[in-house]
Amino acid sequence: MLLDTLNRPLRNLRLSVTDRCNLRCEYCMPEDEYVWLPREDMLHFEEISALVDVFIGLGVDKVRLTGGEPLLRRDLPTLVRLLAAKEGLQDLALTTNGILLSDQIDALKTAGLGRITVSIDTLHVDRFVKLSRVDELGAVREGIDSARRVFGGMKLDTVVIRGVNDDELVDLIEYAKSMHAEIRFIEYMDVGGATHWSPGRVVSREEMLAALTRHYGAIEPIVENSSAPAERFALPDGTTFGIIASTTEPFCRSCDRSRLTADGMWYLCLYATHGIDLRAPLRRRATADELKDLLTGGWQRRADRGAERRLQLGDRRAFVPIKALRKDPHLEMHTRGG
Ligand code: GTP
Ligand code: 5AD
Ligand code: SF4
Repeated sequence: MLLDTLNRPLRNLRLSVTDRCNLRCEYCMPEDEYVWLPREDMLHFEEISALVDVFIGLGVDKVRLTGGEPLLRRDLPTLVRLLAAKEGLQDLALTTNGILLSDQIDALKTAGLGRITVSIDTLHVDRFVKLSRVDELGAVREGIDSARRVFGGMKLDTVVIRGVNDDELVDLIEYAKSMHAEIRFIEYMDVGGATHWSPGRVVSREEMLAALTRHYGAIEPIVENSSAPAERFALPDGTTFGIIASTTEPFCRSCDRSRLTADGMWYLCLYATHGIDLRAPLRRRATADELKDLLTGGWQRRADRGAERRLQLGDRRAFVPIKALRKDPHLEMHTRGG
């Protein structure tokens, strides 16, 4: 098995299919202007498919389509169909903001998508507009309804920010329950793009659990052996939810994830400042074996544990200064796929 310097396998690929997004969430894309990846650099579906074959050969069995907003990529179901046909893939998932979901849900299901995660940070229209600069909460909720109908359920992601939505945890849990969804509360991270981040705005896992315990009573951790970022918990009535404590309790030790941007740069950590260019060799018609060697070497040298290193810092502020973000869009969270 292919292992990195910390004995972590390569199993999980987050595949960003576009850096464009139709929201401007303040924890991810708060600026007025962005530098976009050039169109001609975007990998074609055939190129993505060829790369995924090499990744599968090295142990990847989970692929998650991300963005930007992945449903902005034209004909996404065609890519889903290509990927769903691959024997080595156990899990093919999509993370979306939900706005375009109800239009595409049937095509995604027919193409073979396995599961869906929808981001929803608030149930209040005024807060949604303030947080994302777009009045589309209605469309997101329609998207979630459609995922419930067509997929039977889903996961929901909520980034919890102090003073913004930290009083909505109970309402969101109840909403998720009514949609047959498992919700995960995510600690606000200081990643690229999160230029408005400050330590005071992070609501920790401990605070979230304390607030939920006050409302529901004793909460039980669900013990499981998994490399997934979310820790899962059960309420007294059996309802389950997750917390992704990337900021206060990083999980780098078991991280089996890497990220491919829409223009074919391969990043081995959410916090990595340098990626490995896979587009150039692909377009030079490198053989599958050459690509395999490139990926193998990259993973074998991997020592990243970005979130743990951030935690060790004293004076902590947004990871990438805005000037650096403007010079290299690859440092943005929306280019890395969240
Ligand atoms: P499954 O466990 O397969 O359902 O997916 P997931 O939870 O990894 O996927 P999702 O896209 O829903 O990710 C949820 C959030 O977890 C992301 O948006 C990030 O905020 C956080 N996250 C995901 N991957 C990483 C990672 O590699 N490192 C850190 N620090 N945070 C991550
Ligand atoms: N902190 C935590 N999660 C973030 N995401 C994006 N930016 C941040 C951040 N600064 C995650 C959210 C969003 C997904 C696509 O990426 O979960 O729903
Ligand atoms: Fe993995 Fe980097 Fe996230 Fe740590 S910070 S869990 S190493 S991607």
